Amino acid sequence: MFGFNKTMPKFCDLKGKVAIVTGAAKGMGKADSIKLAEAGAKVVVSDIDIAGCQLVVEEIKKLRGEAIAMRCDASKKSDVEVVVAETVKKFGKIDILVNNAGIFPFEPFLTMPEANFEKVIDINLKGYFLMAQACAKEMVKQKSGSIVNISSIAMGQVGVGFAGLTHYCASKGGITAMSEAMALELAPFNIRVNCIAPGAIATPGATNTSMTKEQNDAMLAPIPMKRQGKSEEIANAVLFLASDESSYMTGSVMVVDGGWIAG
Ligand SMILES: NC(=O)c1ccc[n+]([C@@H]2O[C@H](COP(=O)([O-])OP(=O)(O)OC[C@H]3O[C@@H](n4cnc5c(N)ncnc54)[C@H](O)[C@@H]3O)[C@@H](O)[C@H]2O)c1
Repeated sequence: MFGFNKTMPKFCDLKGKVAIVTGAAKGMGKADSIKLAEAGAKVVVSDIDIAGCQLVVEEIKKLRGEAIAMRCDASKKSDVEVVVAETVKKFGKIDILVNNAGIFPFEPFLTMPEANFEKVIDINLKGYFLMAQACAKEMVKQKSGSIVNISSIAMGQVGVGFAGLTHYCASKGGITAMSEAMALELAPFNIRVNCIAPGAIATPGATNTSMTKEQNDAMLAPIPMKRQGKSEEIANAVLFLASDESSYMTGSVMVVDGGWIAG
């Protein structure tokens, strides 16, 4: 007989799972943390902004979820190692990593100082490598895990380029390429690695860029859905890739962009 059974597991149920989210004090990382906690995961909310993390944890607790806040500069190996070790100590394992911490300072290529290029690569690309490697070493022990790397449609070769973001585009292209290689090496351990490539998403970081209103309007003009995305719309994709519902997906890039690159 057909019909809904209330005892059936929820779609994208994360009960019993442990997740780390980086750059989680605001924007998409915050939305991801709340979404994963709502689905039942215990969430480690990490960011350089510890006060922001604590506010996110309070919000999760009000929703009867479980979360802890941890300060972590994702580009620093010592910080990453502490977060991973503390997560295992507190929750016993790591099932999900959402690599999300990122910066996107607009500046012209011709005058971009080497140090600024290095800073973006350090946080956006090396940070993802460090956190993924440290978490994967734990996931290998349990022979399961899901790593979700937040890339961008600025990753290259998708028909949309971004002037003023040489360093950022390099980091995001690096993330998708690195994720493919990681997916191949980690598949034998039942660890999946996927990317999300968001388009223009309304977040505190996107609002505070040095882009002029004219530059921003020009950026939004080609988006078929004629609006920016919401952090929650990215969090839905994160939830799907984090959960067993995406069990046959690895090495893939999920584009969430209001149709931008299709245009
Ligand atoms: N907003 C967009 O339109 C857009 C589009 C595509 C991809 N992205 C990517 O999505 C991710 C989140 O972006 P957002 O728009 O939510 O940004 P945001 O600026 O609103 O939030 C980013 C968070 O990362 C944290 N952070 C910065 N440096 C860090 C570090 N070294 N270690 C740990 N945390 C650090 C910040 O404190 C902040 O809380 C980034 O990787 C970004 O590149 C954003």
